[in-house]
Amino acid sequence: MHRVVPFVDLKTQYQSIKDEVMTAVGHVLETGQFVLGEEVSKFEQEFASYVDAKHAIALNTGTSGLHLALLAAGVGPGDEVITVPFTFVATAAAIRYTGAIPVFVDINLESFTMDPAQVEQAITPKTKAICPVHLYGQAADLDPILDIAKRHGLKVIEDACQAHGTEYKGRRVGAIGDVGAFSFYPGKNLGAYGEGGMAVTNDDAAAKAIRMLRDWGAEKKYYHSLKGFNYRMDGVQGAILRVKLRYLAGWTDARRAHAATYQRLLADSNLVLPQEMSYSRHVYHVFAVRTANREALMAGLQKEGVQTGIHYPIPVHLQEAHADLGYKAGDFPLSEQAANEVLSLPMFPEMTYTQLEDVAAAVRQEAGVLIQQ
Ligand SMILES: Cc1ncc(COP(=O)(O)O)c(C=O)c1O
Repeated sequence: MHRVVPFVDLKTQYQSIKDEVMTAVGHVLETGQFVLGEEVSKFEQEFASYVDAKHAIALNTGTSGLHLALLAAGVGPGDEVITVPFTFVATAAAIRYTGAIPVFVDINLESFTMDPAQVEQAITPKTKAICPVHLYGQAADLDPILDIAKRHGLKVIEDACQAHGTEYKGRRVGAIGDVGAFSFYPGKNLGAYGEGGMAVTNDDAAAKAIRMLRDWGAEKKYYHSLKGFNYRMDGVQGAILRVKLRYLAGWTDARRAHAATYQRLLADSNLVLPQEMSYSRHVYHVFAVRTANREALMAGLQKEGVQTGIHYPIPVHLQEAHADLGYKAGDFPLSEQAANEVLSLPMFPEMTYTQLEDVAAAVRQEAGVLIQQ
């Protein structure tokens, strides 16, 4: 096979919305509202309505969303926040920004998300919050986590950075817990043309704190009542994201259709395919398969012109930057197994059926198919 199938293709998507994007960007440049401003405010309202949250506060990154969500939850130095090690490093980094300590619990290998059965034993008198991650666009199992949080007086901060439009039992994730954070990093299902993020919540006090903290802790310009940050969203990104939000439902449907096609074409392959849990409407930010021969498969697919990714090769508890937390190999066996075995196949809304077939043919050739008994 000589056609290259890219892992993601942002250029093709841009071509499909170019005129609208250029008009929106031009409008911001004409009005000079380069930081926050009207387009960002409108995007906040539209995104709040999209995830069915009372408040949405636009930020510069998803990491800032997690950081401010934790601060608004009262998390600070010496506190503990329970999360998973099988995530992008930002989840743990945001906890550490506050001075708190991430306390890890393992994942469930079928869902790739937090195993609620392990949460309660990780709670100590220092625990302030639980931070489940809706990894790859699959909802974490929130009900048991919310139940534990309620019984122990803890906040739930949802890392929804990969989960735009993901549903948990029919409700969009983000504001099901106390506060949720989304990322608009370009490759995300809803991606800016630069950096961007959003915090969402139904809690008026948390929303007010986050709104102040993103803009130097001031309610009134130059009167700083909180130690704040410069975490504001650019006007240009707000305008672009408004355009793109209108396409998100269609793009999500396309991702889900591609996932169904992969399931069909790879049903007899030697791979463990991702599962959509009964409580989750998966938005397939990432379509991750598992195999014990991951490196060989990745190299073989590369030769066949199929680009793949690994999300993520090292769980956070084994990252050098977080060695001071004192964890060791073997502490979270399922996260470690996932990190050793996952391989993300190409997934983007504009994929053609031919591209899906090319990927599936290459995977079947490189990974082999199951022998029917
Ligand atoms: C699970 C997860 N958490 C947090 C982040 C941080 O988002 P950002 O890159 O916008 O800071 C990301 C994305 O990069 C992510 O995938």
